Amino acid sequence: MKVPFVNLKAQYATIQAEIDEAVQNVLCNGLFIKGNHVADFEKAFAAKLGAIHCLGVGNGTDALFIALKSLNIQPGDEVLTPALSWISTSETISLTGATPVFVDVEPDYFGIDLAHAQRLITPKTKAIIAVHLYGQALTLDKLKDFCVVNNLLVIEDCAQAHFATHQSVVAGTVGDVAAFSFYPTKNLGAFGDAGCLVTNNEEVAIKARRFSNHGGLHKNEHLMEGINSRLDELQAAMLSVKLKHIDKWNEQRIQHVEIYRKKLATVSSIILPGLRPHAHHTYHQFVIRAQDRNELKSFLLKKGIETEIHYPAALPFEPAYVYLKHSPSDFPIASELVTEILSLPIYPELSQEQIEYVCSAIQSFYSTR
Ligand SMILES: Cc1ncc(COP(=O)(O)O)c(C=O)c1O
Repeated sequence: MKVPFVNLKAQYATIQAEIDEAVQNVLCNGLFIKGNHVADFEKAFAAKLGAIHCLGVGNGTDALFIALKSLNIQPGDEVLTPALSWISTSETISLTGATPVFVDVEPDYFGIDLAHAQRLITPKTKAIIAVHLYGQALTLDKLKDFCVVNNLLVIEDCAQAHFATHQSVVAGTVGDVAAFSFYPTKNLGAFGDAGCLVTNNEEVAIKARRFSNHGGLHKNEHLMEGINSRLDELQAAMLSVKLKHIDKWNEQRIQHVEIYRKKLATVSSIILPGLRPHAHHTYHQFVIRAQDRNELKSFLLKKGIETEIHYPAALPFEPAYVYLKHSPSDFPIASELVTEILSLPIYPELSQEQIEYVCSAIQSFYSTR
């Protein structure tokens, strides 16, 4: 049996007629940038999330960068960001001229450790990028309190957490701005690069729209320098189709995880991902901590099972950040996690047989040790 890590062809097959119709519509309209499909998607996404403003942009990295710029993050500022994440969450801070300040993560839920963050605050700290990693929302009320007490702006990174909740509050609705990625493999994925940011703050929304559009809201208006980062009509039309399916797809991921959890519960050499109390985890990734992780990964590959590591190195130890001169003892949890974490295949179209096959292979690997 083969278990690919992702299978985007399988998802397309389930909605092919709807997607093809949406594409035809755009092609026949002949309008590819700044049309109704983008406006409609922005409206639908904001409404579903429960936010006031949504701005479609080129990708999730741009959404973070535009968010930081719209919140006036600038050289001399410090921004807290997790040590275990995708590099967009630190490189965009540097792009504004500010300094990324890496924070260790929680061992059980993999989210940013607010107790550690508290110890890193200086008079220069202006904001935090709160990443809802792997699809599990952070403790949103604690995050809010932390930012109020420390007078910090919050940028929620929801690239991996479309419609995840904590205490029924949706990730992306508590920060000053939230950034989403619609990279094709995300829970809500486009057919190419795409992203958006959401906010309830009208001033920030206007600044973001301006900055993402060469510094102006209208043609030939350039009140400042900006960038060109837009969601296009084709991606927006396809995302609108997919948005109607996202709840079902997230539910299917959760059901798959239930099988994984049941079958793997007795394997003492792995630790299953912690479920934060009151969290509705949408499992962008299902990440276990595994003894002999690299050997297990190779073993599974020989059995036709693809896995990934999110991420093989903690960000402060990527070559891009050697200038910060960190040592592993600065981030003991993230430094240990990167040697153990393994992401198992998780997507709506996985079959029960495939999940059971993965579980049997993991059991069989450890039975020989
Ligand atoms: C946590 C996180 N933030 C930001 C991004 C950036 O999104 P994009 O690839 O759309 O630029 C990603 C994408 O992988 C991500 O996982």
